[in-house]
Amino acid sequence: MCGIVGYVGPELCADLVVDGLRRLEYRGYDSAGLAVVDAEGQLLTRRAEGKLTNLVKRLVEAPIDGRTGMGHTRWATHGAPTEDNAHPHRSGSIAVVHNGIIENHVELKAELSALGHAFQSETDTEVIAHLIDHHRTARGLALSEAVRQAVLRLHGAYSIVVIDATTPNVIVGARVASPLVLGLGQGANYLASDVAAILAHTRDMVFIEDGWMATLTPDGVDVRVVATNESPRWEKTTVTWSPAMAEKGGYKHFMLKEIHEQPRAIADTLRGRVSLERRTVDLPEIPLTREDLEQLRHFYIVGCGTAWHAGLVGRYLFEDLAGLSPHVEVASELRYRNAPMDERTLVLAISQSGETADTLAALREGKRKGARIISICNVIGASIPRECEGTLYTHAGPEIGVASTKAFTTQLAAVHLLALKFGQLLGRLDDAAMEAELTALMHVPTVIEEELSKPADYLEIARAWHEAASMLYLGRGNLYPLALEGALKLKEISYIHAEGYPAGEMKHGPIALIDERLPTVVLNPRDAHFQKVRSNLAEVKARSGPVLVVATEGDTDAADLADFTLTLPAVPEHVLPLVAAVPMQLIAYTMADFKGTDVDQPRNLAKSVTVE
Ligand code: G6P
Repeated sequence: MCGIVGYVGPELCADLVVDGLRRLEYRGYDSAGLAVVDAEGQLLTRRAEGKLTNLVKRLVEAPIDGRTGMGHTRWATHGAPTEDNAHPHRSGSIAVVHNGIIENHVELKAELSALGHAFQSETDTEVIAHLIDHHRTARGLALSEAVRQAVLRLHGAYSIVVIDATTPNVIVGARVASPLVLGLGQGANYLASDVAAILAHTRDMVFIEDGWMATLTPDGVDVRVVATNESPRWEKTTVTWSPAMAEKGGYKHFMLKEIHEQPRAIADTLRGRVSLERRTVDLPEIPLTREDLEQLRHFYIVGCGTAWHAGLVGRYLFEDLAGLSPHVEVASELRYRNAPMDERTLVLAISQSGETADTLAALREGKRKGARIISICNVIGASIPRECEGTLYTHAGPEIGVASTKAFTTQLAAVHLLALKFGQLLGRLDDAAMEAELTALMHVPTVIEEELSKPADYLEIARAWHEAASMLYLGRGNLYPLALEGALKLKEISYIHAEGYPAGEMKHGPIALIDERLPTVVLNPRDAHFQKVRSNLAEVKARSGPVLVVATEGDTDAADLADFTLTLPAVPEHVLPLVAAVPMQLIAYTMADFKGTDVDQPRNLAKSVTVE
């Protein structure tokens, strides 16, 4: 995690770097820092504990500026979130910002201490600054070669940006297993953890590969393979996201804006991939044939957090539409299991960021054993899609709120398309079935638009339940993963403990918890499980548990059993999870906003978890 930004060019860059950090704060917000080389060739730094606003205050009190600079927003791994541990870390004329973990930092620190280097922080990062300084001063190497030699010694996952007071107008970056993108500007060049940080300045990006480094001056870039010092073939990608897509656009929080963007995001994800006339799904980006699918022995879907929930919904779709029953696995578990995988295995990774370390590792484990690997991802050119044979991109646009919303629903739309594609290839779906599925899916954006414009009792619910210590979410069938997602959203942003449970399993444990202090959210639309879930609801009510029912519009019976009712439009069962996501998100959002928590940047979390 952590966000990094670097600039070299003709402008004074402190504001530009801070603005870039603002767009990266979702990656971590334990501390922030800035380093510049000023007009006199001095290396100046400012750092502050806590959020970026603290750094901004510090910069108002004691401004610094220069035409070469870099910044960092931290999600602490090694060392407490204090100012001393905040990046940039310095040694001599060198300053370094870093995202990732240096696994051999203890050994390197001992070595450098023996050479007389004194350390100021508890971080793993500081060794990088000292190591580069050592190569630069003791061995007299040029900056880029000193960085290369230092990087050759590092074990772990990292992206770094380095500046040196003795080499103004140069910044150097390197990456292994943590994201780093190079932005090509007019007379200026940029480095960042993510395109959103530099989109306001350029849309021409180069995605730095693992094991590469780049040396940037205002007029040029020199990309090298660290191990060989050769220039690899690299390509420029022009990103279509606009800078405005990463702004709040009048909403109180990014999360609320992103909830409201779902109709557009889902429509964009479906666009060009569905032909209602031909009753087909066209996904040329997924290079699997009927023969490939017929000979599959194992099929795994991997993801973390919300993306894992999207995979769980996917299981129902693949079973119903393609006759395939994937194992849907939490990536951090699968990566260390001895799960059977071979060349007749398919691994589908789902990830908004495309950078989640556990998901990437699980995917690599599949690849190592010969499996075919594909992904559903939102960020073009991220690590996961780069390692896959094919990627179905969700066109959600940048998601800034840490709690995932539009990325989730676009993942559901994408996984639905993929299940339909597999069903089509395997001859499982006749024209009528295909037409019904596609019509339902294509109608979802309009249905969610209407759902979002309807008045509903969210505020009343928040007023009544915001002091609850815990809540239970129940769902069955393809709404069980939505119960998990509703509970996760609530935990993440309102800090109320919540548990999602398969409704039918409630009697095997959670029922013991029910009393007048434990609110339960019951997903109970008129689907195949309606009667059974309604019985579970009655069981909660019979034990004095407060209940919120999420029912189908017009279901007047629901109100009799519930303290609160929210309604879902009547839609075919396979798209129910998409419309049920909206109340799951808005319950959590309203509860958190009512409590006054930091909705977009909840404590301890980060959006993109690039460490294990
Ligand atoms: C973090 C985020 C979650 C996200 C998960 C997986 O935990 O806070 O919102 O679902 O990572 O992220 P990915 O980018 O792989 O979808």
